[in-house]
Order: sequence, then C-alpha cells, then structure tokens
Amino acid sequence: MKKKNLFINIGSLIGISDGYPKRPLKGAEMNRIDKLDNAFLYVAGDTIVDYGDMNDLGNISEIYNNYDNIYDVKNQFVIPGFIDSHTHIVFASWREEEFIMKLQGCSYEEIAKKGGGILNSAKKVQLASEDELFYTALMRVNEVTNYGTVALEIKSGYGLSLESELKMLRVIKKLKEYTKLPIKSTFLGAHAIPMEYKDNRNAYIDLIISKMIPDIANQGLAEYVDVFCDEGFFTLEETENILNAAVKFGLRPRIHVSEMSNNGGVQLGIAHNAITVDHLERIEDEEISALLLSKTLPTVLPQVSFFLKIPFAPARKMIDAGLPLVIASDYNPGTSPSGNLQFAISLATIYQKLTPIEALNAITYNAAHALEYENQLGSIQRGKKASFLILNSNVKNLDFIPYHFGSNKVEKVIINGEIR
Ligand code: NIG
Ligand code: FE
Repeated sequence: MKKKNLFINIGSLIGISDGYPKRPLKGAEMNRIDKLDNAFLYVAGDTIVDYGDMNDLGNISEIYNNYDNIYDVKNQFVIPGFIDSHTHIVFASWREEEFIMKLQGCSYEEIAKKGGGILNSAKKVQLASEDELFYTALMRVNEVTNYGTVALEIKSGYGLSLESELKMLRVIKKLKEYTKLPIKSTFLGAHAIPMEYKDNRNAYIDLIISKMIPDIANQGLAEYVDVFCDEGFFTLEETENILNAAVKFGLRPRIHVSEMSNNGGVQLGIAHNAITVDHLERIEDEEISALLLSKTLPTVLPQVSFFLKIPFAPARKMIDAGLPLVIASDYNPGTSPSGNLQFAISLATIYQKLTPIEALNAITYNAAHALEYENQLGSIQRGKKASFLILNSNVKNLDFIPYHFGSNKVEKVIINGEIR
C-alpha cells in the first residue's frame, strides 16, 4: 500500500507548472512562476496526487482518517527540488594546493601544464579503490541533497584509461542504486589527454572511439557522452570524431565548450544534436543566434567564473535574446569545489543579472529538461515525483534565496515522497 501523506498549511506552493509550456521556459517566460498561497499538497507513495487551497480541504476530522501522515508546514514555502545537470562529483581527493597556486597568480591553464588539474585528479582516481571512490562521492551526494539537490548528472573523466573510466562509471551506477536518487551518467573519457599519450594524442582518441565507447555502451554504464572541447584540451575535429562514434552507440552529447576560448564548439554541439552545451563563458552573438535556431539547451556554470575569476557567461543577453537557460554547479575539485546550487543562483543574480525567479527556473523546470526528467521532476504537478523542498521560516519571498547567500535556506528535503 502506498503511504498517503498530506502536507498542510503551506505558506506558498511555488513552481506549479500546469500552465507552463511543455518545453523549457525561454526568454521572458523564464520570469514566470506560478504559485498557490495557503495550500495543501497530497502525496501518495513517491508521487504528487493533488494540491489545492487549504480552504478546499474540507473537514479536518475526516482528513485525519483519510491519510497516513499529516505534516504541518507552518506557513513555510515549498518549492520544487533542485536538479544539478552538470557535476564531476566522483573524485579521489580535493586540490586545495592548486587553489593556493591560483591565489599566487597561476592560471587554470598554467596549473594544467604543470601536471596539475585534471591529470592530477586522474592520477589519484587511478590509485583509488572503487569503494573509496564510492564512499567519498556518497558523502558529497548527501551534502548536496541537504542543500536541496534532488537529482543530478555525474560525469566520469578522471579515469582517462579504460579500466579507470569503467571504475568511475561503476561508482556512478552504484550511487544510483544505493541512494535511489535520479542520477544520469555521462562518459567523459575526452576530458584531457593522459600524460602517457602526450606525444600521441591520436592513439588516445582511438582508444576512446574503438574501445571505451563500445565497452561502456555495451555495459549500459552511461546515458550521455561529453568532451572538453576547448583550447588546450580537445579540438573541434577530435570532438566531432568522438561524438560521431558515441552517437552510433546511443550516447547523446552534452559537451564542455567556450570556457577558455570561443572555438565553434557551440555550433558543433548543435550540429550533433547535443542535449546541452555547457560553460559558454566566452560565447558571442553568433553562438546566441545559432542556439536560437536549435533545441540544444545552453547551460551556464557561474561558480566556475567566480572561482577561476574568468568572465561570466552572458546569461542576461541570452535570455533577452529569447533563449532558455539552465544553471548547474559543475561540482568538481578544480574549478568549482561546491555543489551548493543556492550559491550558484546568488551568483547568477548578482553577476549575471538574472532575476531570482529566472535563476530558480534555471535550476528546476529547465534543468529537468536538461536531464530528460521533465515528466518526473522540476515542478509541482499532479503525477510528477514528490521531490520538493520545505524552506526555512526566514524565507518570506523568493528574493530571499539568492539574497541570503552562503546559508542553507532548505529546512527539509523530500525526495520521491521520502522525507530526508
Ligand atoms: O567543468 N572544464 C573542464 N572540466 C571541469 C574541470 C575539471 C577539473 O579541473 O578537474 C570543469 O570545469
Ligand atoms: Fe564540468
């Protein structure tokens, strides 16, 4: 029997999507948020069954007989859970020593050239046991759920050998099974050229194409493929070859582009039907025009700009041009050592001039589309999963969420009907 849980006295039930278009919100629509004040929400098992005005709930003694549990939300706000569509949450250790190099003036590219960066993480992942990787990643997943993340994408890409990439992807699979969270898995073998292939990069790309992709696809270990298509990492041509191979095995692209340089990666992603193109710090008007003609979702990662002190992606310009927008954390030890999406939306409002509502839609409704969870997650709707957040009593309006940066505004996290 499915447990019947009734949440009553919700101050404001926010992000009700019955009236929204059945696609990502774009342009001016991104500033829309539908809500119901003084509301109830009825959940059976893991699913939202109904919601409505408290005044329509009827006689309270009857109500008590009809439900297994009744939770008094005490006038606090309820919003859809956050969806983090871009993370590298599986890694063996932090890289705070590189942070100090950065503070002393070294750039991300310079650190990478000195054997730091992704290659540093790869060395450590290769040495780590599968259990060690699993438990440390699990702790981080638990950490981000406390900040309101109810679903996420996780990339491989710190393995950089067949064996270690498979190890990372098995860890992601185990996280899915163990946490029961909706998690999508992305193969990012093309994250960097491993040291041993420094003088023979084609051999590594061959390994990705002829061995890694088929093995991973045959074992069902990834849903998507990613490439770090940027200066100093993978060229347009290399990216194209990898995407062509991956698509044949049913792995849809979501790629890293235009973080270090604007190299045409956006257009390449669009041409390969990428579900998202991520980063976009250096894009220009041409890329915005190309995105407007496509279904590829632009994803920005404001924590990376903050942490690396590089330009922020032109998110305001993108929305004003009519684009949809997704925001993600990029949680990783090198360029975004935080998976707190509440901080990401503070940055998006302060530095990218988004409104609090636009930023919230970018990590909920639109982010659900970015992970193909739009039928299950991202908003309050009958039939969707009961994955939502009860905010703390300080929150009296949505502006408060990005405003009160650095603190956790989430009091309770409900994932698939389960109160965490
Ligand atoms: O998304 N840009 C490429 N990959 C990560 C960084 C990974 C790292 O430095 O470990 C990113 O920023
Ligand atoms: Fe990334």
